[in-house]
Amino acid sequence: MHPGNNPMRAYVFDAYGTLFDIHSAIAKHREAAGADADRFSEIWRAKQLEYTWTLTLAGAYVDFWTLTERALDFAFARAPSVSRDLRAPLLSTYFALDAFPDARAAIAGLRAQGRRTAILSNGSPAMLQAAVERSGMVFDAVLSVDAIRLYKPRPEVYALATNALNVASAEVAFVSSNRWDIMGAARFGFDTIWVNRTKLPDEYPDGALTGIVSSLTELSVAGSRA
Ligand code: LAC
Repeated sequence: MHPGNNPMRAYVFDAYGTLFDIHSAIAKHREAAGADADRFSEIWRAKQLEYTWTLTLAGAYVDFWTLTERALDFAFARAPSVSRDLRAPLLSTYFALDAFPDARAAIAGLRAQGRRTAILSNGSPAMLQAAVERSGMVFDAVLSVDAIRLYKPRPEVYALATNALNVASAEVAFVSSNRWDIMGAARFGFDTIWVNRTKLPDEYPDGALTGIVSSLTELSVAGSRA
């Protein structure tokens, strides 16, 4: 469903959940975490995002790494069966998360087609740098909201990408697994590709999608037809 006949000059990617597997941290410690492991990881992610939204609405800012730590502590409190001994190992894994298995080839494929690639993320600059270095992926720009101290989906965040890449919003394909992030990017004027890995129902009907893919592999295949 990706618009293969629309040659986008730049592909801009969300990081967490899109290129980097947010649940790979708990996956590495699943046995130690026990039966509540998945619920624990979901609470961790949900609270991390909630804090970005509530702080930005309140006109406040705390960096994403600190929010990740706070959300983890909330998850421990909500799922007390998960041992707090996992706090340090989970944080250390999260700081340089695994890339999804399809990410590296997709980015390399787009670059081989002459596309520019960038990351635009809530992540702190240090987290993003650690994850990118670990993955071996190459980007023209790795952009963090930290530069403007506002979180997605504020329009100022999406403008970081057009400013850094010196392109118009219509020249950008924005790729995210987070449907609410796609909504914000679409409102800003980006073409949007929703990575729906787990067959979630669609939402945000007023933030129109340009395309849906089930894996990043489909991006470079569609891009080669453009
Ligand atoms: C990010 C969050 C939204 O990387 O996953 O910006």
